Amino acid sequence: MSMTPRPPIPSFIPESAPFTPEQRTWLNGLLAGLFGLQESITPLSTAEAAKLLPGLLEAPAAPADEEDGAPWHDPAMPLPERMKLAEAKPLPRRLMAAMGQQDCGQCGYNCKEYAGALFAKSEKRLNLCVPGGKDTARMLKELYRELDGAPATLPAQAAPTPAKSAPVSPLGRSRDNPVYASFLSRRRLNKPGSEKETWHIDIDLAGTDLDYVVGDSFGMFPANDQDLVAAVLAAIEAPPDFPIAERTLSEVLTDGVSLSPAPDMLFQLISYLTGGERRQTAKRLAAGEDPDGDAATLDVLAALHKFPGVRPDPEAFIEALDPLQPRLYSISSSPKTNPTRISLTVDSVRYEVDKRTRFGVCSTFLGNRIAPGDRISVYVQKAPHFALPDDPAKPIIMIGPGTGIAPFRAFLHERQAVNAPGRNWLFFGHQRSGYDFFYEDELVAMRSSGLLTRLTLAWSRDSDQKIYVQHRMREVGRDFWSWLNDGAHIYVCGDALRMAKDVETALVDIIAEHGGCAPAEAVRFLGELKAKDRYQTDVY
Ligand SMILES: Cc1cc2nc3c(=O)[nH]c(=O)nc-3n(C[C@H](O)[C@H](O)[C@H](O)COP(=O)(O)OP(=O)(O)OC[C@H]3O[C@@H](n4cnc5c(N)ncnc54)[C@H](O)[C@@H]3O)c2cc1C
Ligand SMILES: NC(=O)c1ccc[n+]([C@@H]2O[C@H](COP(=O)([O-])OP(=O)(O)OC[C@H]3O[C@@H](n4cnc5c(N)ncnc54)[C@H](OP(=O)(O)O)[C@@H]3O)[C@@H](O)[C@H]2O)c1
Repeated sequence: MSMTPRPPIPSFIPESAPFTPEQRTWLNGLLAGLFGLQESITPLSTAEAAKLLPGLLEAPAAPADEEDGAPWHDPAMPLPERMKLAEAKPLPRRLMAAMGQQDCGQCGYNCKEYAGALFAKSEKRLNLCVPGGKDTARMLKELYRELDGAPATLPAQAAPTPAKSAPVSPLGRSRDNPVYASFLSRRRLNKPGSEKETWHIDIDLAGTDLDYVVGDSFGMFPANDQDLVAAVLAAIEAPPDFPIAERTLSEVLTDGVSLSPAPDMLFQLISYLTGGERRQTAKRLAAGEDPDGDAATLDVLAALHKFPGVRPDPEAFIEALDPLQPRLYSISSSPKTNPTRISLTVDSVRYEVDKRTRFGVCSTFLGNRIAPGDRISVYVQKAPHFALPDDPAKPIIMIGPGTGIAPFRAFLHERQAVNAPGRNWLFFGHQRSGYDFFYEDELVAMRSSGLLTRLTLAWSRDSDQKIYVQHRMREVGRDFWSWLNDGAHIYVCGDALRMAKDVETALVDIIAEHGGCAPAEAVRFLGELKAKDRYQTDVY
């Protein structure tokens, strides 16, 4: 089952039309389905719909390709399986199945919209899907060939510029039209001794005209680590000031291109510059094969080291690389507290491969490299389906281990600022209580003041036993169910691949056990909560 927030249902029915709100919602969903704008046309069963809208059910059925329910829309499903499920579907559906299925918005669309834009050729960039990575880019390239014999392009140039025919969005409201903001400060959220390095980041929005609401994400264009840039320059034996258009090679390597996974085109370029066995290896890597079992670990520098002595022309080298993509972070502050200061909660990604530490480009840019006063290119990414309930009296349950706490800090600050009477329950967890209790003072104070009605904690490395948020949810399943019955909205934020799936399973089990129903019914119930925006996720 998909766990990502759905895009908003557009409104086709005028407010003056003689329908109840439920009828209007259902009709809008139906029409969105018919027009191909929404995956699921309605949360209601046919019988329920018939009760609500007698006579309207004779409306023409949605086109077949929209009735498929997008069974591949699961971020944990491997690409070959997704493509198999979409095999007999029209091209836009197969394009969609090739995406990472997170609807994360990093490409500037959700998965279905990105597929639609490629199909309509209003978007030509095939390498925008961050969660899908190289596998998605390769599959899109293959599928794109079906489009009237259109040339498959993997544009290399790096810039936050829009595709030619894409409409330009308002300043600072999308990756295609960012603005500059100033970095203010960082503060480490873990205590010394933690295995994690997580930062509370503050950014000054003054003078940007940007506004946001809690639940939105913040996008930014990072810069590559200067040591890595220097190592790449050394590997290709090129001077940093080599001119590339109106910039220098060093500048383009800093903020223009991704130095992370080596793209197929780089191996293709290398294959032209080598011979014999090395050429065959490069060709196989360019075709997505893994001749030496190390393909997944080859970033640009490792790829150059694998073929020592290859000295590509700097211009051709840059053209063979992927553009440096922006990254998104859930906003962890409320504009009601301070409208011009935005906070983020960022985990520094670091891992070792072959004795070289690899650094996540944007998280370590924020965590280590940027200095107070530096300007960053940013934008606000709206999250219309990750928002507090309109009614401030509604109870909310927030499940956010690790950096998943970010939007919930924002929610709590907002509910505090507006004196919302609704109850608030937070499930937070991380590795160790003594080191990784982010915002401990704030949360404890909120608990004491009563703002936080309940705070349930899960520490995965305090004992031999892994305790995760979903274990705690099950322990208090009866109370969880009672909050749900009181109309609580449920929110999940954090890791998409493991946590969100396991939390969803726990939710289904709690509903089945305490609601006294079969698992299939519990799944349907959860689907209805999701359709009513009472179950919302922001996972990555
Ligand atoms: C809507 C949304 C909200 C988000 N909110 C937050 C947030 O609040 N806080 C936050 O910290 N992040 C958040 N993220 C994730 C964030 O956008 C970045 O993906 C994250 O910071 C990593 O980016 P990076 O540039 O530092 O790393 P990259 O340079 O992109 O490197 C990350 C990649 O490195 C590889 N990798 C990572 N660890 C390992 C390992 N151990 N072994 C091998 N390979 C590995 C993986 O391929 C991974 O994709 C969010 C993402 C989305 C889409
Ligand atoms: N590539 C990946 O597979 C992956 C996975 C998660 C996060 N990330 C990245 O790491 C960064 C954020 O990490 P983070 O700081 O938010 O912490 P995190 O790595 O998501 O960990 C937060 C807590 O969740 C626990 N956890 C692990 N598996 C879980 C599961 N199946 N169900 C519930 N909880 C589980 C962790 O326990 P233990 O670690 O002790 O098991 C830890 O206590 C982001 O950049 C994100 O994209 C990547």
